[in-house]
Amino acid sequence: MSYYQVKSLEQYFKHYNKSIREPRKFWDKIADENFTWYQKWDKVVEFDMQEADVKWFLNAKVNITKNCIDRHLAKRGDKTAIIFEPNDPKEEAQHITYNELYDRVTKMANVLKDQGIKKGDRVCVYLPMIPELAVTVLACARIGAVHSVIFAGFSASAVTTRVLDSQCKLVVTADGGYRGNKTIELKSIIDEALEKCDCVEKTLVVKRTNSPVKMKEGRDEWLQPLLDAAQPNHVAEIMDAEDPLFILYTSGSTGKPKGMLHTTAGYMVYSAYTFKNIFNYEENDVYWCTADIGWITGHSYIVYGPLLNGATTVIFEGVPSYPDFGRFWEVIDKHKVTQFYTAPTAIRSLAKENWEWVDKYNLSSLKIIGSVGEPINEEAWHWYNDHVGKKKSPIVDTWWQTETGGIMISPIPFVTPTKPTYATLPLPGVQPVLMDERRNEIEDNQVVGSLCIKFPWPGMARTIWGDHQRFKETYFTAYPGKYFTGDGALRDEVGYYRITGRVDDVVIVSGHNLGTAPIEDAINEHPAVAESAIVGFPHDVKGNALYGFIILKESGEDRNRENLRKEINEHISSHIGPIAKLDKIQFVSGLPKTRSGKIMRRILRKIAEGDFSNFGDTTTLLNPEIVDEIKNERL
Ligand code: WT7
Repeated sequence: MSYYQVKSLEQYFKHYNKSIREPRKFWDKIADENFTWYQKWDKVVEFDMQEADVKWFLNAKVNITKNCIDRHLAKRGDKTAIIFEPNDPKEEAQHITYNELYDRVTKMANVLKDQGIKKGDRVCVYLPMIPELAVTVLACARIGAVHSVIFAGFSASAVTTRVLDSQCKLVVTADGGYRGNKTIELKSIIDEALEKCDCVEKTLVVKRTNSPVKMKEGRDEWLQPLLDAAQPNHVAEIMDAEDPLFILYTSGSTGKPKGMLHTTAGYMVYSAYTFKNIFNYEENDVYWCTADIGWITGHSYIVYGPLLNGATTVIFEGVPSYPDFGRFWEVIDKHKVTQFYTAPTAIRSLAKENWEWVDKYNLSSLKIIGSVGEPINEEAWHWYNDHVGKKKSPIVDTWWQTETGGIMISPIPFVTPTKPTYATLPLPGVQPVLMDERRNEIEDNQVVGSLCIKFPWPGMARTIWGDHQRFKETYFTAYPGKYFTGDGALRDEVGYYRITGRVDDVVIVSGHNLGTAPIEDAINEHPAVAESAIVGFPHDVKGNALYGFIILKESGEDRNRENLRKEINEHISSHIGPIAKLDKIQFVSGLPKTRSGKIMRRILRKIAEGDFSNFGDTTTLLNPEIVDEIKNERL
């Protein structure tokens, strides 16, 4: 495959400039040379960024799984497609070849069809990190069903909201899942979630933990017997370039999660192109991304990107600290991993432990190491570079989002000189711009601004499921004609980008994108709570942690504060998931509000950070006296 791989910085700039001058020609060539199509496109791109309408590869016909699996069979049938590394190191790893993957995906596709799933139907996938997760995702794509993977750490009510929003017809889940020394009872979470979901007709259950489960007559079925009876071949559905491929929920600044919709051809081209360029994949490499397939990183860089390139991709069921802090490094050594892609939060938590955990293992197979999900701080960057990369494997600090579908800004390994904490330069085809407070584009270097993208790229989300208006308002209205990322960034003297963090009401905690609004909504449902405001504050392992300012109802005022704190966190756990728990909860008698009733989060953020120096303009506050009270009682 060609994908315009660049070998020098000079070549990068050449390709970059070409990609900007002639974007249509650039993407046309990539799409043309690297995939198998039933029918090619009439037009490369059509867009109206004001209206948030974007289409790529118009009228092309394709099936992404033909590109992920079938076309590799002649040359790579016996090559390992997936290495499954179980939670428990004593359980044997599985090696699934491309031939076997074909069998498993086509059988699963036939099972889904037998259950009445048709092109365009939505299927919810709520599975732990086991091969069935990738197989189910691909089986959906095979028959043109739209997969909606929900991270298996989400609680029942979070599942309900998502299943209802996209009106899923079928759910694929497991009896339970292993994570470190914990077992998560997934089937009982699904049972609770589905009590309120009339749209779901069937649930297929994978046996993983052998936990006892209830099977609802007429709705629930064990998956394995159905697979055993299914045929291992299936003619892939012919999909239009813009047919929906999947929905993936991400938090927004209002309570309801946003179902980001990705479509077929553009996402395929973009995930494949970025994987190849950022990870320099070569034929016998073993690539490992530690994310969960429940997030976009797993979609694009465990499943689609690697398989589109005929790669060997590792699926790891466990956690970095189980059975001990050497697990990541043991797995790299065991499978001779060549590209390793993880999150700053994992790096920081491991960097706190003795580095001998790393040095015990042979990491000489590594060629490239990557970081994703949040800004990587200087200390973590150096630890990763020194102890894992041994100063020879470049760090690719990759900036992107659920909405972008794939990596947008990142060093190209062995080409772009890395710089700690900098995601560096845009990929060819990507046009970032920084905007100032007056909403003008900033042309100079050595500046900060709001990060926007001014020309469409094939991997971008096309809409929010069922709410195009919200899509337009969230991403295309603040800076008309441009896609607004929600991030702030700095551009240095040579044009390198450093992402400084969110400029909206989203907080990234341990690499998880959490909207403060849904957490507030959950807290406010607690009977003792009158009102709440959540902000992020810096945390040395998680990157950010959550600080809650909570006003109690009169009925709650004489309750024991410690018990209340516990209850509120349990409430959040059961409404959203344990990842959204608050590190600090301060009970306050009021919140700083503007005359129009808007909470001034800027002030709360400063208080949470412990920075009392400059609260900015507080003249618009209705109740300025509250600021001192909150400040004096800060935890
Ligand atoms: C937000 C998107 C990208 C897939 C995983 C997260 C932050 C992501 C970086 C990075 C600094 C980063 C941004 C972005 N982010 N990567 N390399 N450096 N910040 O996807 O859940 O949609 O979150 O994650 O704030 O907007 P997501």
